[in-house]
Amino acid sequence: MKSKASAPGKVILFGEHFVVYGVKAILCAINKRITVTAEKIEGEKISIKSNIGNLELETGKLISEINSPLKPFYYLADKILKNENTGIEIIVKSDIPLGVGLGSSSACCVAGAAAISRLFKKTSKEEILSLAIEAEKTIFKNTSGADCTVCTYGGIMDYDKGNGFHKIESEPNFHLVIANSNMEHSTESVVDDVRKFKENDENRFSSLCEIESKLVKDVLGLLKGNDIKKLGIKVKENQEYLETIGISNTKLREMIQIGQNASFGAKITGAGGGGCIYALADESNLKQTINQFKDKNYDCFSVKIDFKGLDTF
Ligand code: PMV
Repeated sequence: MKSKASAPGKVILFGEHFVVYGVKAILCAINKRITVTAEKIEGEKISIKSNIGNLELETGKLISEINSPLKPFYYLADKILKNENTGIEIIVKSDIPLGVGLGSSSACCVAGAAAISRLFKKTSKEEILSLAIEAEKTIFKNTSGADCTVCTYGGIMDYDKGNGFHKIESEPNFHLVIANSNMEHSTESVVDDVRKFKENDENRFSSLCEIESKLVKDVLGLLKGNDIKKLGIKVKENQEYLETIGISNTKLREMIQIGQNASFGAKITGAGGGGCIYALADESNLKQTINQFKDKNYDCFSVKIDFKGLDTF
């Protein structure tokens, strides 16, 4: 018997970095997915096959001794296999670019938790989410859980450290053009640079947190009205705050300029220092936005919000 599940990637629309200091952020799931197929196999081993490589190990290994980006799958399979006299083969197929802030690892954890656990019993979305967050902690121990949550439930949500997650009920119809700088970044080290910026000037950082909070509040109102032009202005404002805290660079600024000229607004999404930016578009300027990036040889594609979240087959 095979068990199959798929989960979407994600984009942080507003509030990255400031969210670390208690400000509300807004995230959405995107229609790029990871699909995981799990199957019981003979022998007490875990075999993982993916387009970034393979991993095959006996069960019962210490997670700290595994040095592979596929270790969340091993963690999940080993945990779920306890007291079962079998092995598992896991096959991962992804259309989410890896390691550029689009939620590929969270989507792996969510789809992996669902496909593997459902080989043995019917599990609820809540149980799957909690397993997925545990698995994600094997690669990023301070995860807020926000990414796995949006990959599980889909749609748009707001999140802050004090109050957790709230799904936003409106279903905006915009397109996001994602452009990839193809510059590797480490979320942990960019977060650390922002901490240094804050420690250097606490007053400045605290007033930036205040204006970012106000911006996110305004955005929550604008999302209800689906006013894309005004939303675009907020995207540009948010980018200015991200520039101020130092997470941008020459290449990202060039990409943002292209996005802002062609669409309603563009900003970095995620940690910055590399990774991706998004440009906010609708049917009227989608093609021209994509063409502008492609003309300058940028890797880009468009996505819409995914309202489905985790899917199991
Ligand atoms: O690079 P990403 O998409 O994983 O985003 C990191 C978001 C930060 O706000 C910079 C860090 C965090 O833990 O929220």
